[in-house]
Amino acid sequence: MFQHLLLPLVILAISPIPEASEDSVLSPAHEELEDLDCGHPELSARIMGGSDARPRSWPWQVSLNHGGSHICGGSLIAPSWVLSAAHCFVNNGTLEPAAEWSVLLGVHSQDGTLDGVQVRAVAAILVPDNYSSVELGADLALLRLASPARLGRAVRPVCLPRASHRFAYGTACWATGWGDVQEKDPLPLPWVLQEVELKLLGEAACQCLYSRPGPFNLTFQLLPGMLCAGYPEGRRDTCQGDSGGPLVCEEGGQWFQAGITSFGFGCGRRNRPGVFTAVAPYEAWIREQVMGSESEPAFPSQSPGLQSGSWELKDENCTIALPECGRAPQPGAWPWEAQVMVPGFKPCHGALVSESWVLVPASCFLESTDSPPHDLDNWRVLLPSRPRAEQVARLVPHKNASWDDTSDLVLLQLRAPVNLSVSPRPVCLPHPEHYFLPGSRCRLARWGSSGPASGPAALLEAELLGGWWCHCLYGRQGALVPPPGHPPHKLCPTYREEEKEAGHCWNESSWSLLCQEEGTWFLAGIRDFSSGCLRPRAFHPLQTHGPWIGHVTRGAYLEDQLAWDWGSEGEETKTQTCPPRTEHGACGLRPEPAPMGLLWPWMAEVHVAGDRVCTGILVAPGWVLAATHCVLRPGSTTVPYIEVYLGRAGAGPLPQGQQVSRLVISIRLPRHLGLRPPLALLELSSRIEPSPSALSICLHPGGIPLGASCWVLGWKDPQDRVPIAAAVSILTSRLCHCLYQGILTPGTLCVLYAEGQEDRCEVASAPLLLCQTQGGSWVFVGIALQGSRELFATTGPEEAWISHIVREAHFLAPSGSLYSPPEGSNLCPLDMAGASGSSSTVLFLLLLTPLIQD
Ligand SMILES: *[C@@H]1O[C@H](CO)[C@@H](O)[C@H](O)[C@H]1NC(C)=O
Ligand SMILES: *[C@@H]1O[C@H](CO)[C@@H](O)[C@H](O)[C@H]1NC(C)=O
Ligand SMILES: *[C@@H]1O[C@H](CO)[C@@H](O)[C@H](O)[C@H]1NC(C)=O
Ligand SMILES: *[C@@H]1O[C@H](CO)[C@@H](O)[C@H](O)[C@H]1NC(C)=O
Ligand SMILES: *[C@@H]1O[C@H](CO)[C@@H](O)[C@H](O)[C@H]1NC(C)=O
Ligand SMILES: *[C@@H]1O[C@H](CO)[C@@H](O)[C@H](O)[C@H]1NC(C)=O
Ligand SMILES: *[C@@H]1O[C@H](CO)[C@@H](O)[C@H](O)[C@H]1NC(C)=O
Repeated sequence: MFQHLLLPLVILAISPIPEASEDSVLSPAHEELEDLDCGHPELSARIMGGSDARPRSWPWQVSLNHGGSHICGGSLIAPSWVLSAAHCFVNNGTLEPAAEWSVLLGVHSQDGTLDGVQVRAVAAILVPDNYSSVELGADLALLRLASPARLGRAVRPVCLPRASHRFAYGTACWATGWGDVQEKDPLPLPWVLQEVELKLLGEAACQCLYSRPGPFNLTFQLLPGMLCAGYPEGRRDTCQGDSGGPLVCEEGGQWFQAGITSFGFGCGRRNRPGVFTAVAPYEAWIREQVMGSESEPAFPSQSPGLQSGSWELKDENCTIALPECGRAPQPGAWPWEAQVMVPGFKPCHGALVSESWVLVPASCFLESTDSPPHDLDNWRVLLPSRPRAEQVARLVPHKNASWDDTSDLVLLQLRAPVNLSVSPRPVCLPHPEHYFLPGSRCRLARWGSSGPASGPAALLEAELLGGWWCHCLYGRQGALVPPPGHPPHKLCPTYREEEKEAGHCWNESSWSLLCQEEGTWFLAGIRDFSSGCLRPRAFHPLQTHGPWIGHVTRGAYLEDQLAWDWGSEGEETKTQTCPPRTEHGACGLRPEPAPMGLLWPWMAEVHVAGDRVCTGILVAPGWVLAATHCVLRPGSTTVPYIEVYLGRAGAGPLPQGQQVSRLVISIRLPRHLGLRPPLALLELSSRIEPSPSALSICLHPGGIPLGASCWVLGWKDPQDRVPIAAAVSILTSRLCHCLYQGILTPGTLCVLYAEGQEDRCEVASAPLLLCQTQGGSWVFVGIALQGSRELFATTGPEEAWISHIVREAHFLAPSGSLYSPPEGSNLCPLDMAGASGSSSTVLFLLLLTPLIQD
């Protein structure tokens, strides 16, 4: 599941190249052959890194084709010899046949006509005996051409360094190729050769960077014969498809090949410079291979002045690059906050993602029509610390923005790039494989154009829920929970003040989710309307859009994951699926025990008239089930003043906002002839929307779900009300009946406590009987009869009544044995009848008095 980022820089294919036969190629008439001349391009003007090369500026660059597609680069070192990387040709330990390869020389654009391009068959591929895989070094190969290249303006060899040649640290060298322009982002048409300026890094400086845990907490040990070039801050690099191509450095007007593009950890990532095969150490090997052939490469000696530079003595500093994005002076003061002003539209909030690009929801401008307003002249973008508004040059909507809420994105390009500093500064964007750890500290930031921010909400601190919780709260029954390293479908932060909006649905307000790692803020999620009124609101993870944003902007700050402590979550490897849910959503989910977590999110405290507290259970957003004897005085006919609390943790103090309270506005009892029924439904003054701290329990029609394990849940002490559970087994109905002869009513269950657990729960507050199904959901089975620990009134017989009153009650599909009423009492073994001492306490039969009926 860890996506290994060490990647040899081969490319599988860019689209096929037009066929060109060797015969059809005509070389320019005025070509002259200069055998010993190397490293002299016709042109030497360069553009800044990562851009189109000028034609003929890198005449030794070749394209190696397999099956008509560009696979790797290479360099011409003599008319009949091309230098490249071994990993281009060795596949699973075997060398691919030379006959399948061809070499294109003098190519500038791979898309254009192949005028002036020479195509050569490959006669032999030579790889060092001890090459095995890129990360073990010796990644070089020599290709002998079937016929020599004709040297000319567009085709010339590069010089090779002798073994004694020294390239000074910090030298600016150039890498060239037709490889990807970013990770997984192929070079666009017309496939013009790219060049990038890279600085040589010394061994110590490079190893220092690679010793720092990078993406996926990986480190790497460089080996002799490897060479690094690039920048600690990344962003300019070689990438897939550049493999085998040359890294060349100019010395005294002559170009030497210092390295062969070999591999990288991703492309252009921070503290992960490209790794090249150093050419100089392989002088002897190269000479040995080419010996005796009609043309040999040139190894000009290095001018003595250059070789004896101060480089040898200079100690390199280990300079680690820090993220350039995502730093904020304080939460809420976001230096990337952008406000887009468009005539005729409400101001729209978004985020600066690079010096030139702002990301905003497409729905700000796409409300009425599918095509956004095209006149961008009047659009303005306000950024922090900028004296004037920026103008907009271009608008790039996400392809799916008009129909897919999770792609509600548009990128705006500013006319002029802004100077990045402390402010404005771009937000960091996550790579697709980013795993925001459960418990990550997050904040909400304005996003989109709905109403004014209701002040304090902007400063809400949120904590990310675990993947299982988040996914199963919203996901399908049986759905696989994406493990760390796989893009999640949702991100769920839990933040506190939401309950202040009690009775309202918060789906209209619009926020984005910023999450922090090591003091660096990532734009982790954007609003997701599909979550309805469920709490916490889910966010659509932005990481799935990282590649699109990177592709459009070519410079957005995609940053590596910075926090790696996946420790105790226990989520890393287990494949998890979501437990059953009902048509009304998820029920009976229970979080893993956590210091701040809620262990029993459906357990309610029912405070009756200020003088006693009973347990209750949330069966639907506005309904709690409790024991009649606990909430109503015998004979009483009026509804007492009852308050219900949810979201009370047993362990440790909880943040205030996760507690929810409601008044009870009515009590409903089923109509039972002559008896006061044991179960009462309490109607709350307003809904309690589902959330991890207040989630409805599942119900099960009759009986106990097959294979379930059951618990009695209550309080040890009604004063401090720390929830406590005792393991029980359920007695068969026959045994139950025999023990409690004559006093059982239909729907009563008997339990047997595990040894030593009998008196864990106090009985006056009417503990609950719950079972956990094999699927993982928790099901409410019954509530203790007055004064009893062993006898429970079950919901089974009341299913019709409950579902009639509480439309959103979560009845699971039936499974397991239905509860059967007691059979004939004459079947009991003699010694069992009345054996239980507690049977005498089961005096729950109260006369039904007229109450508030439905
Ligand atoms: C690689 O080679 C080994 C043994 O030579 C073979 O068992 C394996 O199937 C090969 N793998 C692939 C992907 O070709
Ligand atoms: C391969 O062999 C050469 C010459 O013996 C040696 O210098 C080099 O370190 C070896 N490389 C690897 C990767 O074993
Ligand atoms: C290395 O760091 C030291 C101390 O910070 C500084 O004096 C020195 O100039 C640095 N050297 C280089 C080559 O940057
Ligand atoms: C747009 O939606 C289609 C269909 O769901 C999907 O295949 C495609 O990847 C989406 N495009 C982007 C850029 O996400
Ligand atoms: C950008 O910032 C640098 C350093 O602060 C400054 O020298 C330069 O003038 C600024 N450029 C613009 C266009 O503001
Ligand atoms: C928000 O929820 C309410 C009530 O469920 C619903 O009527 C409304 O359409 C929702 N709005 C959005 C934007 O989803
Ligand atoms: C990251 O890697 C380092 C060194 O390899 C190791 O000590 C550390 O425990 C790792 N951290 C995590 C969270 O895996």
